[in-house]
Amino acid sequence: MAKIVVTREIPQAGLDILQKAGHDIWVNPDDRPLSREELLTAVEPADAVLCLLTDKIDDEVFDRAAKCRGFANYAVGFDNMDVVEATKRKVPLSNTPGVLTDATAEMAWALLFAAARRVVESDTYMRSGAWGGWGPMQFIGGDIAGTTLGIVGAGRIGTAMALKSQGFAMKVLYSDAFDNTVLDETLGAKRVPFEELIEASDYVSVHVPLMDATRHLFSHDVFKRMKKTAYLINTSRGPVVDEAALMRALKEHEIAGAGIDVFEFEPKMVEGLADLDNVVVTPHTASATVYTRNAMGELAARNVLRMLRREKPETPVNPEIFE
Ligand code: DGY
Repeated sequence: MAKIVVTREIPQAGLDILQKAGHDIWVNPDDRPLSREELLTAVEPADAVLCLLTDKIDDEVFDRAAKCRGFANYAVGFDNMDVVEATKRKVPLSNTPGVLTDATAEMAWALLFAAARRVVESDTYMRSGAWGGWGPMQFIGGDIAGTTLGIVGAGRIGTAMALKSQGFAMKVLYSDAFDNTVLDETLGAKRVPFEELIEASDYVSVHVPLMDATRHLFSHDVFKRMKKTAYLINTSRGPVVDEAALMRALKEHEIAGAGIDVFEFEPKMVEGLADLDNVVVTPHTASATVYTRNAMGELAARNVLRMLRREKPETPVNPEIFE
């Protein structure tokens, strides 16, 4: 019987898979991330670990989890894991791509609509009882149909975000290292350099992973180059955006608004952001739908079982160690 450590409660669908396999499972009993010390202690007896994007999985963890046969991240993003170190040590890592594509793209759209059409601001106003009746100048927001959508990172989620624009007759631009034939052929989309995209787009939706090359991709300079009427939507990773620069751009109306699900210093927001009306903020919940969170748990659990058998996980992060 193997020891599986689950660093925080996940949906039962995932735990069921582990339980049915008859292993000894320890699940963090508290609904909060483990502290660093708690994580290091928890992984010590583990044969496999199902971890979260809030757990830093690095050399210190690998040292302590000396007999661990793999770490399954409950997330598609794996910037919380030291992939180079794991690969050097031949420790398998996995993530959960695919199952959260639609949910994340849908949330990007929810934020786009909420920010452009001032949904949250209007809701707060209605609840305050201040509304005196219909007025021609109330809560005027941004147009959506017929405008230009800029997709930064045309991978699975960026592609889904772009494809969902079809009902709104939007012009789609994308920046990526590669041509995306699905977007080119389905939408007549155009791959353009990042600089051109930010200057031409009415909505810029971010879908790149966090890496050295994308950290602070959105800087003060970028916000200054965006249209004053443009909106930024971020459902990828917080540090891709310089949050202090975003705050300043929103405050000084260098851009019209933003819809933000991920933050540079989670769970904190940069000071002042919460005081602004032209930003809609959500607590990193883009994948939080019933189907998706179950599917993430199931995929992560199946990956754990494969790694316990020393097989390549279904969705490996470092497949090369199996070659
Ligand atoms: C991910 O999977 O990387 C998201 O940020 C959380 O679902």
